[in-house]
This record gives sequence, structure tokens and C-alpha cells, in this order.
Amino acid sequence: MTLTDDFLRIRRQFPHTKEVVYFNAGSYGPFSTGVKKAIEGNVDLRLKAQRDDSRDAFVTTDELRSIYARLVGARKREVGIGLNTSHGLNIAAFGLPLRKGDEVLVSDVEFPALVYTWRAAAQTRGLKLKFVKSRQRCFDFDQLQRAITKRTKVLAVSWVQFFNGYKNDLMTLSDFCRERDIFFVIDGIQGMGVEPINLKKLDVDIFTSGCQKWMLSPQGCGFFYLSDRIRDRLTQPFMSWLGSDWHMDFTNFFKYDRPFFESARRFEMGYYVVLNIMAMRAAAQMFLDLGIRNIQRHNYALIDSLADFIDSHPSYRITSSMERKHRSSLFCFTCDGYKQLHRELLKNRIILAQREGSIRVSVHLYNNEADIDKLIGVLERFAKG
Ligand SMILES: Cc1ncc(COP(=O)(O)O)c(C=O)c1O
Repeated sequence: MTLTDDFLRIRRQFPHTKEVVYFNAGSYGPFSTGVKKAIEGNVDLRLKAQRDDSRDAFVTTDELRSIYARLVGARKREVGIGLNTSHGLNIAAFGLPLRKGDEVLVSDVEFPALVYTWRAAAQTRGLKLKFVKSRQRCFDFDQLQRAITKRTKVLAVSWVQFFNGYKNDLMTLSDFCRERDIFFVIDGIQGMGVEPINLKKLDVDIFTSGCQKWMLSPQGCGFFYLSDRIRDRLTQPFMSWLGSDWHMDFTNFFKYDRPFFESARRFEMGYYVVLNIMAMRAAAQMFLDLGIRNIQRHNYALIDSLADFIDSHPSYRITSSMERKHRSSLFCFTCDGYKQLHRELLKNRIILAQREGSIRVSVHLYNNEADIDKLIGVLERFAKG
């Protein structure tokens, strides 16, 4: 089987492709039939309620820690299963060893999840939150160098900017942070599943991502990576009974002396969101099967076709970076009357978002050339008026 066959086979697992053209994984991803089956399987089990299945979630969650560790090039003990991106951001903002007056740098074009969390932590802990000026609405390395002071202790950025798809160069940023002893925190949600990453090769302290977008899982689930280096230096901003190791022996609940897990699992939150866990595993399997590098190649090839059209058409203008280092699976463009164009696209059953003055096209593994052609068809008609 060729890679094209693999993508064809995967597309068949997404029933929405028969009804709509979906370019909106940057907001939230569609379900595959495998995900539906996994959720239904668990609903069925609970409907029948014939056995105690409470241990299944422990097994599945453990598998998920391994799967996600593989997907990001981490060790299993560095990965915890979370509730969303914010879960890991909160571990960072309230758990990192920081002192009153320490400075935290974030971008001035950042998604609110990161800003709100760090602002709350700054107020609670007496930190100083500083915004790094962007250049042409992209995170800017020169401005970062200018913003740094002796008190700078944290850099927290999105891997990929949500509104224009600009991908940060993590290697450069992580080297920069390491040389200056600055904690490096990444909101990875807009790159996770579509951009390869190897956290072992990067000096990242904390990486966190919801899985509701590109990872094609339900809303309200995610994972976080806490590097071996940082984990035991974190204070525990919240604690759950399952952050301690019961050795799966739940016969005496009055043991209040269970030792904490020596892993990221210590920062998970209570019993599992079981329907989501089951769905996450089914979804993650596709990423293991296809390989994230292949998914990236597939997505970029489709985006290239669209970009060629946009670039050569006088009515449209690309607003994403197409530079190899900074491009992603989020592709944005604009035109006069882009809001009207957005409505027109939705009317034609092409599902995508508009963000900050642009049309945002999220290209993913279930898309194909026919989807791009359909989009181009509407753009051609719209431009003719
Ligand atoms: C960059 C970025 N971070 C975070 C989020 C969402 O955060 P959470 O998963 O905590 O809801 C989004 C989109 O919803 C996003 O685009």
C-alpha cells in the first residue's frame, strides 16, 4: 500500500467527508468512526452495567501516556493525561519555582488561554507579566532579546499561533532559554498531531496540549509533558488522590500515606473522563499508524495547491508565513469582503473559520485535492462577483 492509499483509507473513516468539506480542525476536529465506536463501546458497557469496569480506565490511561510519549518523543513518566491545554498551563504558572518579582514573557498576539493563566499566577505570586512585541503579528526573536532582563525567568509561547498559523522555531527559542536559565513553556495545541516534534532534543520544561483540535478527540481532553528536569522542582498547585500510588489496591481507602507518583501522573486530576480516554486512544492510533511527518507532508502538499491559486489571483492575499521554518497546517488568506466570503463558503458546505481579518483553512489528514478544488471553485466565483 502506498501512502496515498493510507490517506484514502483514513478518509473513509470520516463520514463527514461525504457531506461537507471540513477545514476547521484549528477550532475542533471531527470524529472518525473509530472514535465513535470507542465511545459507544463504553456507553454500552455502562448501560448494561454487568461488571465493574472501573479498572479499564487505568489501563487505557496508561496506554495513552505511552502513546503520547511516543508522539512527542518523550519518556512515559514525563507525560500526564489532562483535561485541556489549560491544565498544563496551570501546572506551569502555579507550580514552577519562581519568586516574587520574577518576570514572565508572553507574546502580545497570544491565545487567551496562556495569557489569562499567567496573569492570574502573576497576581497570586507577585510575578511580572511582560508582553513581547510582535512584528507583522508574528512572535519576534529580536523583540524577545530586547525584552529580556536579569529577572526574566519564564518564556511561555504557543507553538503555532492560532490566527495566522505562524510556527515558532522551538529549537532557537529553547537554546535561547537554556543559555539564560529561563523556563520554557509551550502551548502546543495548534501544532500537535500535524507537526513532528521531539521533546528529547529540545530543552522544553513544560509542553501542554488539548486534543480536541488536530488530535481529533473529544472536547475536554488533553495531555501535558513535564520534563524530568523540572518535575520534582514543581510545587503541586493542586492534588488528587490518584496522584498517589495505590498499587491498584483499593481495598482500604483509609490509607492516607500513599506515596506520590514519581512521574507526571502526579499532576493528573482525579478519576478519568472515561468516555474521552477511550476516544483519545482510538484517535491517537491513527497518528501512530500514519506518522506525524507523513501527515505534515500530506497537509503541506494540499496547502501548496491552494497557496499557488491564492498567490496568482489578484483578489486574494496570503496572510500566513510560507517559510519552511514557520509554516504550519493552518493556512490563512484574505480579500475585500472576507466576512461575506466566509458566509459564502459556509453556504457551500465548506466549514472553516475567520480569524483576525483572514479566512483560516485548517488542512488535515482526511482532506484531499477535491476538497481544495471545491474551495478554489467558490473563491473563483466569489472573485467574479
Ligand atoms: C493556541 C491555543 N491555545 C489554547 C486553546 C484552547 O485552550 P484549552 O484547551 O485549555 O481550552 C486554543 C483554542 O481553543 C488555542 O488556539
